[in-house]
Amino acid sequence: MCGIVGYVGHRDCTDVLINGLSKLEYRGYDSAGIAVFNHNQKIHVAKSKGRLQNLIDRMNQDGKPTGCAGIGHTRWATHGEPSDINSHPHSGGRVTIVHNGIIENYKEIKDYLADKGVTFSSDTDTEVAAKLLDYNYNGSPIETITETIRDLEGSYALGIIFADHPNVVYAVRKESPLIVGVGENESFIASDVPAVLDYTKDYYLLEHEEIAVLTESGVQIYDSFGRKIQKELKTADWDVEAIGKGGYEHFMLKEIHEQPTAIRNTIMPRIKDGLPNLEECGITLDTLRNFRQIFIVACGTAMHAGMVGKYVIEKIARVPVIVDIASEFRYRNPIVGEGDLVIIISQSGETADSKAAMHLAKKMGAKTLAIVNAMGSSIAREADMLIYTHAGPEIAVASTKAYMVQIAVMYLFAFEMALAVGKIDEDECRRLVAMLEETPEMIERLLEKKEMTQYIASSLITADSLLYIGRGLDYALSMEGSLKLKEISYIHSESYAAGELKHGTISLIHDGMPVIAVATQKELFDKTVSNIQEVKSRGAKVILICRDSYEPETNTADLKFGLPEFDDLLMPMIAVVPLQLIAYYTSVHKGNDVDKPRNLAKSVTVE
Ligand code: G6P
Repeated sequence: MCGIVGYVGHRDCTDVLINGLSKLEYRGYDSAGIAVFNHNQKIHVAKSKGRLQNLIDRMNQDGKPTGCAGIGHTRWATHGEPSDINSHPHSGGRVTIVHNGIIENYKEIKDYLADKGVTFSSDTDTEVAAKLLDYNYNGSPIETITETIRDLEGSYALGIIFADHPNVVYAVRKESPLIVGVGENESFIASDVPAVLDYTKDYYLLEHEEIAVLTESGVQIYDSFGRKIQKELKTADWDVEAIGKGGYEHFMLKEIHEQPTAIRNTIMPRIKDGLPNLEECGITLDTLRNFRQIFIVACGTAMHAGMVGKYVIEKIARVPVIVDIASEFRYRNPIVGEGDLVIIISQSGETADSKAAMHLAKKMGAKTLAIVNAMGSSIAREADMLIYTHAGPEIAVASTKAYMVQIAVMYLFAFEMALAVGKIDEDECRRLVAMLEETPEMIERLLEKKEMTQYIASSLITADSLLYIGRGLDYALSMEGSLKLKEISYIHSESYAAGELKHGTISLIHDGMPVIAVATQKELFDKTVSNIQEVKSRGAKVILICRDSYEPETNTADLKFGLPEFDDLLMPMIAVVPLQLIAYYTSVHKGNDVDKPRNLAKSVTVE
């Protein structure tokens, strides 16, 4: 989703903005632009549809702005198609802005301004905000910003420059994230920390409606009434290497390989004396005893992690769990309230629907627990209880290591819950925890046998459509396998509960159609094999993900990826790895942009 960078300092501003925007490319975008105060103190705007390289090429052709202050943006289209005109920055006369988020009342404001004779050249809500700022401008940027944000509904992070205040960058946010980086004689604004890590690790987290002013002499922060405030300076614990590719061809492959470390970093600090210990996250056995039901609310991959969580929690703790897509939960008037626990899972901690679902749950009296990767993000800050996953920065749009640590946390949580409600004793809990601790090593061994997944992927590239099937935990896993594949290979794919196939979907099976069958659950194995035979006998090409020890007969599978022996319950932790690799290599074989798939955004901060 849109990325913002702003800079004031001694370096070449254009270079800093382009470098910062390149670090935000992972968020997903379809156009880019910058506005820089040139050395003659005039604002120079350059923008272009498409990748950042298009903008660079355009600047090489038309002239590159040179100066020491400016703002930059990568746009993920919401209002108006991706085009040069709709790209940010947008100018409203004396005011030029970049924007992340959605101004929900932009139509009303547009009509109001149009009545006053203001004209518009783009389809964007952002231009409306720029024109409103210009309309309200009284010579004092702070006063103008505080007045204008009172009229703006929706979500926004804005980087703003005023033509008559050269070399000063202003920023304000509501809902959409924004940080203010502080270096030696230079300062930055950015949608996310990676954009500034080449220059500084110190930053302020801008809160709702706070205004930052970046000048050559440093950063000042004001509240929504224009009063100066002091804020705590934070230090990022990520380093520059963590956001580089480290020799891998793609971030996604690097992140798949980082999974064992991510699991260790996430679970080890939460295990004491062989038992889960989530006290530092505000969770005790007593807290857990009191919940009558659990909701898990999330979007995309995080929701799929919730599906695994549901099966595991219900299986061993026998507490009912409802998994909800956040955008559905918030509008379906859910029966949730006191005595319920609502778990929000989110890598970014900024997903608009997940955040809104959390607000609703709180309003209705439920307790909220956030499982979040991005430190200091909105969801992390606002939930009643918080478990950070320690995946480190995830750059590839298709999530892998974040999913892995989300499910690792789901396991720890389920074990603790089962212990709390007396469904397992300490010995059993220790046995389960010990198995979870084994998973990083097992994944390391699996990652050594990637060839089979490459081979499977090469057999998928000509497919138009395929199915993933499984039962129970394998079904939960199939959902993630299918999403991963479609996100980055652009091949249509659906996941289906294997037993449900014959009630309609089996009519889609035709000669040679690939079906990826996940069959890791001993209990359900024979049942799944019967479903596999049903599709096989109708011409499907079956790719089976199952235990290595199973030797499929010819009427069962065409290709097999073998997994090591492991407990059924924990199988998803390792079985997801071949699914991720199959998606990855299919995308590579098709020559797609693996890390930045079309139309997708990493952090979806709008509805
Ligand atoms: C986007 C991303 C997905 C992600 C989902 C939820 O759609 O492309 O990879 O799973 O948002 O994001 P979150 O940050 O809340 O986990």
